[in-house]
Amino acid sequence: MNQTEHHTSAPHIAIEPWAISEPEFNPSQAALHETLFTLGNGQIGVRGAHDEGDIWAGTAQNDVFMNGFYESEPIVYPESAYGFAKANQFIVRVPNATGITFKIDGVAFNPNVGELTEYSRRMDFQTGVLTREYVWTAESGQQVRVRSERLVSFSHMAVVAVRYAVTPLNFTGEITLISSISNLPRAVKAGDDPRVGASLGGLLNYVAFKSSDNFSAFTHRTHHSDLEVVSSAMHATAPASTSHDEQQARFVFDHIAEVGQTISIVKFAAYISSQSVSKDLMVDAAHSALSAAHAIGFDGLVAEQTTYLADFWRNANVEIGGDVSLQQGMHFSQFHLLQSAGRDGKTNIAAKGVTGAGYDGHYFWDTEIYVLPFFLHTRPEIARKLLEYRASTLDAARTRAREMAHDKGALYPWRTITGPECSSYFPAGTAQYHINADIAYAIRQYTDVTGDTSFLLEQGAEVVFETARIWPALGQFDANGQFGIYTVTGPDEYTALVNNNLFTNAMARHHMQFAVNIVAWLSKDHPATLESLREKIGLTSEEIAVWQDAAAHMKLPYDAERGLHAQDDAFFDKPVWDFANAPKDKYPLLLHYHPLVIYRHQVCKQPDVVLALLLLGHEFNNEDKKRDYDYYEAITTHDSSLSSCIFSIMAADVGYTEKAYDYFMQTARLDLDNLHHNTQHGVHAAALAGSWMSVVYGFAGMRSFGGHAKFSPFLPAQWTHYQFVIRIKKRLLQVRVEAERAVYTLLEGDALKITHKGMEIEVVAEQDCVMTL
Ligand code: BGC
Repeated sequence: MNQTEHHTSAPHIAIEPWAISEPEFNPSQAALHETLFTLGNGQIGVRGAHDEGDIWAGTAQNDVFMNGFYESEPIVYPESAYGFAKANQFIVRVPNATGITFKIDGVAFNPNVGELTEYSRRMDFQTGVLTREYVWTAESGQQVRVRSERLVSFSHMAVVAVRYAVTPLNFTGEITLISSISNLPRAVKAGDDPRVGASLGGLLNYVAFKSSDNFSAFTHRTHHSDLEVVSSAMHATAPASTSHDEQQARFVFDHIAEVGQTISIVKFAAYISSQSVSKDLMVDAAHSALSAAHAIGFDGLVAEQTTYLADFWRNANVEIGGDVSLQQGMHFSQFHLLQSAGRDGKTNIAAKGVTGAGYDGHYFWDTEIYVLPFFLHTRPEIARKLLEYRASTLDAARTRAREMAHDKGALYPWRTITGPECSSYFPAGTAQYHINADIAYAIRQYTDVTGDTSFLLEQGAEVVFETARIWPALGQFDANGQFGIYTVTGPDEYTALVNNNLFTNAMARHHMQFAVNIVAWLSKDHPATLESLREKIGLTSEEIAVWQDAAAHMKLPYDAERGLHAQDDAFFDKPVWDFANAPKDKYPLLLHYHPLVIYRHQVCKQPDVVLALLLLGHEFNNEDKKRDYDYYEAITTHDSSLSSCIFSIMAADVGYTEKAYDYFMQTARLDLDNLHHNTQHGVHAAALAGSWMSVVYGFAGMRSFGGHAKFSPFLPAQWTHYQFVIRIKKRLLQVRVEAERAVYTLLEGDALKITHKGMEIEVVAEQDCVMTL
């Protein structure tokens, strides 16, 4: 397939492998591009709005976010009930300290008057720099070339840097550069779309402004959550004058410039929140971050960023031969994943990363089931930090379990920032108890794939035990001795509050077995740890026996006549949604039908049984997998961005290679092509990771369950080859798949046993292992 054939929906982004660029300024794409051009480092996210701010037509959210920096408000239910989530936490923007604009002989830049030419903007995945250039001719006829560069440092987590240059092209005159820190208001309304963030309106409260020499810092505070943020700036050279009020500070630089003489400023901005530094030390912390950045300089920061990214790509790059637009989609996904992940053990990955306020900046199961595999196999230390975040909120999960009438154990929230349940719609929220099993599954994957048992010993075992305790409380053994789990919702949000959701039951079974295995391992190898844990959480042998029993007799609904797994006990009793007569403009269904209408039918928003077939593939036989795949594919709308990638992988698993490719096409450029029409609110982090999974788990057929990598690769007909690296058991393995062969190369570490198409092989250093497909 040639690139242009499928690349029709985003002609506004040029196709190239290592960058995205826009060749012209188009206000109708501005909101979308703000998301795509977001720069972030897991802690800070600067949306890709223009340096000069809202004066650019189409500017939607000229925002800066800090991962996990939230406001909190009581949730008001017209009809409340016991145990409903009490308060919402939602991400709020912090002041924008990146702004810079200019005046020519006292006349302010305005892209809407005069003429804008030679415009281009480019975000480079290898340097991490966003560069923008244009020529502006003012109404006076005076012409300037403007070039700005921006980066959000991966090495200095508090720091954002901007270099801004203006060159008069046809005159000598006064160029005034005005740099700012701004907390000016704006408001976005969510309407009926649950995927848009609830509220961004409302200013942060002013606390203080401090200025000394070349350093200025605001402190602002949230209204209810009692969080403070310092937004600060230091310029490479001190400004001629500084002024401020409670919401804005302005730094003015005056120059008389000759024709052709470039006037530039470099601005370093730093953000510190009271979530990581105590309030009295925040301004000092900002000052040291800025002094360090100032000493390194803009070019130095670019050099550091380039080195950091070179290392990232060495450990993560997926190469796709034969399709530049998909290659771009893959690099875009990987780059944005890197930008999304909180890595301090206190923050996580929001559904929209740090690119927007969609889904209120909440963390979901998206992290453990979709995004974690990417980090696990490329940057395992980040995977660990993501799990540490969950461990750090275990107490909140305990509290939630009590609210839900569980006298012991922990129930993780469906959506949250710092731990409490923030889902106000329990049928598709709290009822998704599978979150507990998802976290346990991720802990197991981390331990098996890295071989690092220290997380399990220090924190993980306690999380797994506490969360496992909930399952016996959700059901009972039936007359046939089978254990059932009642009134939960599985991953498919178009079906709610069911008995024996297959995904939940299968994952709960795995969870309880894992818990039992941990007990056995601890009692053999770390008896003291087991003893102290038993004491700490009051774990009894009886409980462990119940886990064993419930897991051994877990009910997995199955229609033996048709050879199909049922999504839940009653699923097959319901009528199938009338797809044949469903108008196209009624999708996504969630925006056009009351949930009850949807719940009454066999219709899936996203994989549920099919996801279980992937995560626990070794527990299902191939015939069942194929039948289940066929059945559920026909009734799935893919209204969730979490859907296509899993169908791509499972299509590959059951042998539908073309379908695997088609579904990959639905996920590989999902945000770049705005396939879900809401990327303006932020990227879809789970789908970004889904692109990676589709190649590694789908086309290459990798499974690393238990810590042993198995592959059964094929090459999509459209490509010449693909290649990726994965980390497993402290090795770095390169996998290259060509038309007729797969080549495994050990880049780091000791010899590694892997399985290729059912055959165990050993890959050793300095010797390619070439296998036929
Ligand atoms: C999906 C959930 C997902 C959430 C956040 C919803 O649309 O149905 O599975 O966790 O989005 O990405």
